[in-house]
Amino acid sequence: MNMKIAVLPGDGIGPEIMAEGCKVLCKIGETFGHTIELEEALVGWTAIDAVGEAFPDATQEACDHANAVFFGCVGNPERDMTVPQQERPERCAVLRLRTGNYANLRPAIVYGALAGQSVVKPEIIGDGLDILIVRELTGGLYYGQPRGVTREGDSARGVDTLSYTTEEIVRVSRVAFEAAQRRSKKVCSVDKVNMLASSQLWREVVTKVGENYPDVELTHMLADRACMELIRDPHQFDVIVTGNLFGDMLSDEAAVLAGSLGMLPSAAIGDGKPMFEPIHGSAPDIAGQGIANPIATILSGAMMLRHAFGLDAEAQAIERAVESALGDGFRTPDIHVPGTDKVNTQGMGDAIAERIAQG
Ligand code: IPM
Ligand code: MN
Repeated sequence: MNMKIAVLPGDGIGPEIMAEGCKVLCKIGETFGHTIELEEALVGWTAIDAVGEAFPDATQEACDHANAVFFGCVGNPERDMTVPQQERPERCAVLRLRTGNYANLRPAIVYGALAGQSVVKPEIIGDGLDILIVRELTGGLYYGQPRGVTREGDSARGVDTLSYTTEEIVRVSRVAFEAAQRRSKKVCSVDKVNMLASSQLWREVVTKVGENYPDVELTHMLADRACMELIRDPHQFDVIVTGNLFGDMLSDEAAVLAGSLGMLPSAAIGDGKPMFEPIHGSAPDIAGQGIANPIATILSGAMMLRHAFGLDAEAQAIERAVESALGDGFRTPDIHVPGTDKVNTQGMGDAIAERIAQG
């Protein structure tokens, strides 16, 4: 197969982790006989510094030419506050790249080798965990109108709007039910039906869509309770489907179950150009030191092979290689414990690339 991929490393640790993500993809190309064309483009503060805007036209063109977008991370908390919100990389790059991609798949997998490292007690994690959070990505509080800050004299008012339409809920819940059919056939829909009108519709619509998937068991849970249950008894969950903001929060929470934010990949799919990115941010505090964990990015590459190109065996080859590198004791500092082998970003990328094998 011939794959054209736009590579957008972005800010902070982005270039370091993305180099390893691309290394592993190229190893897949060699091993399985695929041609992988990578076109790198600027995004975020890196792009602002180079050409004056966070999402230059050339970057849009690179994405338009490609079959999929491989994204690192953007943002710099110190500089983010120096520009109006609509000019921040998160808004003008991330949200733009998500256009059309209404479903965000965020698998939270706790590998057996890291089970002891979760912040949650070992008896709760058991020998691992595999949850899929399906986060609605193009609606909800991030987009609803009206939004903005209005000022009058010394006083001001900040407004965001939480709105969901039937169509928006139907399409993302279908993604969740279909994913559940390939897994353990359970969907838990998370909302805040006791307080929010948008949640009232959310629950109504998810329930209706669920009638078309009689083989999948649907439950509902309030978002605050879900935060608590995810830590108290994570094994009760298989697929979680939820709105944009709840999904943002629950997926960070799921990441601490996995032992580190550096472990969780994601896929943004739907009607847009599919985009794959680690769920963590640009971590400016450790940028440039070569110590960031590249696994979330490498696993995002696996999701790209599976979801953008239908290459399941290749995706599994990456996932197995990650498991095997962890099993052999390779650890970046964020997941390092005594008795394991501390490696840097590149060392982890190499360990995983070396373990790529067919079948
Ligand atoms: C994420 C991030 C983004 C979000 C930011 C960078 C806009 O936190 O992907 O989880 O809030 O969606
Ligand atoms: Mn987030």
